[in-house]
Amino acid sequence: MCRFTFTAVKKERVLPMEIKQESRNLKAQKESLPQALRTFVHRLESTERIDPAELCRILNESTITAEDLSDWADFNHPTSDSYGRRMVYKGKDFEVMVMSWCPGDFSTIHDHGYTQWGAVRIYGPAEHATFRFEDGRLETLARWQVEPGDVIGVGHGLIHQMGNPTHDTFFLSLHTYGTSEQVEDVTGMQGYSTFSIRNCSEWMVACSSPCPRRR
Ligand SMILES: [Fe+2]
Repeated sequence: MCRFTFTAVKKERVLPMEIKQESRNLKAQKESLPQALRTFVHRLESTERIDPAELCRILNESTITAEDLSDWADFNHPTSDSYGRRMVYKGKDFEVMVMSWCPGDFSTIHDHGYTQWGAVRIYGPAEHATFRFEDGRLETLARWQVEPGDVIGVGHGLIHQMGNPTHDTFFLSLHTYGTSEQVEDVTGMQGYSTFSIRNCSEWMVACSSPCPRRR
C-alpha cells in the first residue's frame, strides 16, 4: 500500500482557518527562539531551493552556539532512548532538533525517513560512521572522530550512526532535516523511519570497524 495516501488525503482536508492557525503557531515558535536560531530558521524559510551542500553552507555561516541550544538539552533521557532528542522548530517542510549525548550514548544505525536535505552540527568530540546497505548486506563505509563544530551533510541515501565515545564529556548537536514531500513527520519520529538497526547480530553486517560500546 502506498504510504503517502494518508498525507495526500489530509492535505485536501486542510481548511483556511487551520492554515492561518498553523502560520500563527510557526510565527510564535520562531519568535521564542534565541536570535541566532531565529536567523537560521528565517534563512531556511527564505531560501527557495535547499540541498545538503547549501544547508551546510548556511549552518557554517550561522553563529549558533551550544549555549543557544541549552534550553533543549536532555541529558537525563532514559538509557533505552539511546540519546536525548527534542524538537526546536517544526516548519512546513523541515524540522530542527537538538540531540543530547551523554558519555557512551550511541544512536542506532539508521536513515532519516523522508529527509531529502539535512545537516548536523556537532558541538563535541563525537564518533560518526556511514554505511551502505545492498543486497541484504550492511557494510561500513567509514568511521571517524568528529571535531567539535564540524558540520555533516545528510542526503536521502545516508545510513549512519553517531555517538559519544568519551567517558566524561557531555555535548549537544543541532539537526536539520527537510523534504519536499507533504508529510507530517520528516524524520520518522512517529514511526516512519524506514531503516533502523538496534541489534547488529540480527543482520549480515560487514563492519570494517567494531560496533561501538553502548550504555
Ligand atoms: Fe541520523
